[in-house]
Amino acid sequence: MPVYLDHNATTRLDPRVLDAMLPYLSGPYGNPSSLHRFGRAARDAVERAREQVARLVNCQPGEIVWTSGGTEANNLAIKGVAAGQQPTRVLYGATEHPAVMEAAEALKDSGWTVEKIAVDGRGLVDWPRFEAQLRAGPLRLAALMRANNETGVIQDVARAAQRAHAVGAWLHVDAVQAAGKIPVDFAALGADLMSLSSHKLYGPKGIGALIRRSAVELSPLHHGGPQEKGLRGGTENVAAIVGFGHAAELAQQELSARAEHTLHLRERLEAGLGTLPRVRIFGAGVERLPNTVQFAVEGYDGEALLMQLDRRGFAVSSGSACASGKGEPSHVLLAMGYPPGVARGAIRISLGRDNSAAEIDAFVAALSELAR
Ligand SMILES: Cc1ncc(COP(=O)(O)O)c(C=O)c1O
Repeated sequence: MPVYLDHNATTRLDPRVLDAMLPYLSGPYGNPSSLHRFGRAARDAVERAREQVARLVNCQPGEIVWTSGGTEANNLAIKGVAAGQQPTRVLYGATEHPAVMEAAEALKDSGWTVEKIAVDGRGLVDWPRFEAQLRAGPLRLAALMRANNETGVIQDVARAAQRAHAVGAWLHVDAVQAAGKIPVDFAALGADLMSLSSHKLYGPKGIGALIRRSAVELSPLHHGGPQEKGLRGGTENVAAIVGFGHAAELAQQELSARAEHTLHLRERLEAGLGTLPRVRIFGAGVERLPNTVQFAVEGYDGEALLMQLDRRGFAVSSGSACASGKGEPSHVLLAMGYPPGVARGAIRISLGRDNSAAEIDAFVAALSELAR
């Protein structure tokens, strides 16, 4: 049986989530905007899911805007707060996902100044430099992820929110990797905007959410009907929304059990890696997601190792799924100050609910044979 160790790329649809979705694919097919009973049944399901997702991240149901996933949520947040405004500045973390980086960089075309927030060698924000950047002129938005998809490094976004607010800017938080793995509290973090994605927490692909405090002025990315308060026109994907809601409820109920399970396996894995020569763990010593470890074996190419591991039945990543296949060293590791030769050797293991200690032991044994 192949062993799946790539849960930050995506997760298996939970069979309980599939069961919750199926009736909305084969049964009630009304349009949630319709006033008749068919429409009302669909609308009720969408609103129930909104409450389930809101409970997972402690926001108000009315603060949720459904999107097609984390990418669209990040784009809506960043482009949506910039649209129609006099261009000033936007900042984003140097280790952000491309869905944040590219959305922010695109604002340059309309006259915005866009700068990266530097990180230190552990992947944490370089606070003195960030504070100086915040004070360097008018600022509309700063974007900082809660947890990094490659290293799992967790940022102090509550502190970033405080600092951003002190200069009159909004803070956007990409919580796509954090939600379902560690507690995420939108209200307590003080974030203004936050992105979520269902397929990272055992829900269906192609559905996510942007959470927006009502004070944040936002323009839609595309124009259409009045759905989602006019912020995201188009008939809702009811079955996917129901699935996301159910996955969020299960994630909330099982959060600590899942985190404990994966942390236990991660510690076992790191102990195993520690017995191999020339292994370096990235972001070691700082708070990280319980399920994630990114490492490199000195002298080995990450993608070549990935393919050899795949042949032996282990599915891992050499960085972010989006970056793999391009042969580019991870921008996350480059931002942390690693030379391209080291960054190119990166392997990411992201554990999940269904992984076992026996799988970890087998993985370490296979890796020790491949990287002697
Ligand atoms: C941190 C982060 N943000 C955003 C995304 C994009 O989410 P989606 O695949 O739902 O578009 C991902 C997916 O890998 C991610 O890891």
